[in-house]
Amino acid sequence: MASTDRKVANGEDNAVFSLRRERGLASSYLYLFQEFWCPGIAIEGVKSFQKCFQAKHGDVVVASFPKTGTTWLIALTFATVNRQHFSAENHPLLTSNPHTLVSCLEFKIFCDDIHDPVLHLSNMIEPRLFSTHTPFTSLPKSLTESNAKIIYICRNPFDTFVSAWTYFNKIRSTMSLPALELEEAFEMYCNGVVSFGPWWSHMLGFWKESLVRPKKVMFLKYEDLMENVNFHVKKIAEFLGCPFTAEEESDGVIESIIKLCSFEKMKDLEVNISGKLDKIIDNKLFFRKGEIGDWINYFSPSLIQKLSKIIEEKLDGSSLSFKMYS
Ligand code: A3P
Repeated sequence: MASTDRKVANGEDNAVFSLRRERGLASSYLYLFQEFWCPGIAIEGVKSFQKCFQAKHGDVVVASFPKTGTTWLIALTFATVNRQHFSAENHPLLTSNPHTLVSCLEFKIFCDDIHDPVLHLSNMIEPRLFSTHTPFTSLPKSLTESNAKIIYICRNPFDTFVSAWTYFNKIRSTMSLPALELEEAFEMYCNGVVSFGPWWSHMLGFWKESLVRPKKVMFLKYEDLMENVNFHVKKIAEFLGCPFTAEEESDGVIESIIKLCSFEKMKDLEVNISGKLDKIIDNKLFFRKGEIGDWINYFSPSLIQKLSKIIEEKLDGSSLSFKMYS
């Protein structure tokens, strides 16, 4: 049982005990914490992240809603920032899953795994790279008010749903839990009751900040990255203050980063076929189809209508929109 769930069961954690909770797509409960649905196992991590994280100049945080392309963006960012240190033939991304190279702040660094997170953070090689699913409004001030950079990725909510539903059902099966029917999972998704959701608030938090402070928050869409990854890798490098030189461009450095981080390359690496993240999650679960528009294979007309209406209502007036790709 996850630590927060256990504490709740034992009545040990009154603060968590008082939070509203619902069943989410994954196996454990989601708790309504600071206006988002936080997985039980991440509550302590989010709290410590908020309390103890001290941003440093040069820090880079890849932020995302789960199943929107986090793994891809982490890999691209890691390869771009560290391009002076590693050759394409001997690159850490060939032998390590991207999530091992760039740790998640609330799930890894500030969770039970690392004995002394503050010491660990102060010993990290700079620039430090992290990932997070924590919504913008719950990020520590030390991060939002510093010069650290945030790159956010989001994805068409239709494809995000299919990716999340299939992923969490695989996680459930590893725990011998019954799979959720599509309709049941869809209802949770439409109510926003998914890890770190509602998804619309998550996107809008980062979207609004990227409009107000474009030098601080870069906002990307999975679909845009897929359509022109070369253009976006260059933008990422510029945003992070390490633009590619003309020589690097002509030497094919950008192309080799794109190839190294491509879905086809990453999914066939031994580490991503048989390895596990933190001895728990099969790395292969991070690589399913890597396509845009796969949702069309799952949605009935009534589900399309329902989700389209929610997107329209929730994103109304925000200037954020998604193409349907069908
Ligand atoms: P699908 O389930 O639609 O295939 P996250 O990394 O946030 O968990 O998102 C997972 C989604 O990104 C999955 O989508 C996965 O296949 C896709 N993905 C993983 N690595 C990718 C890569 N290198 N390029 C493109 N898509 C990738």
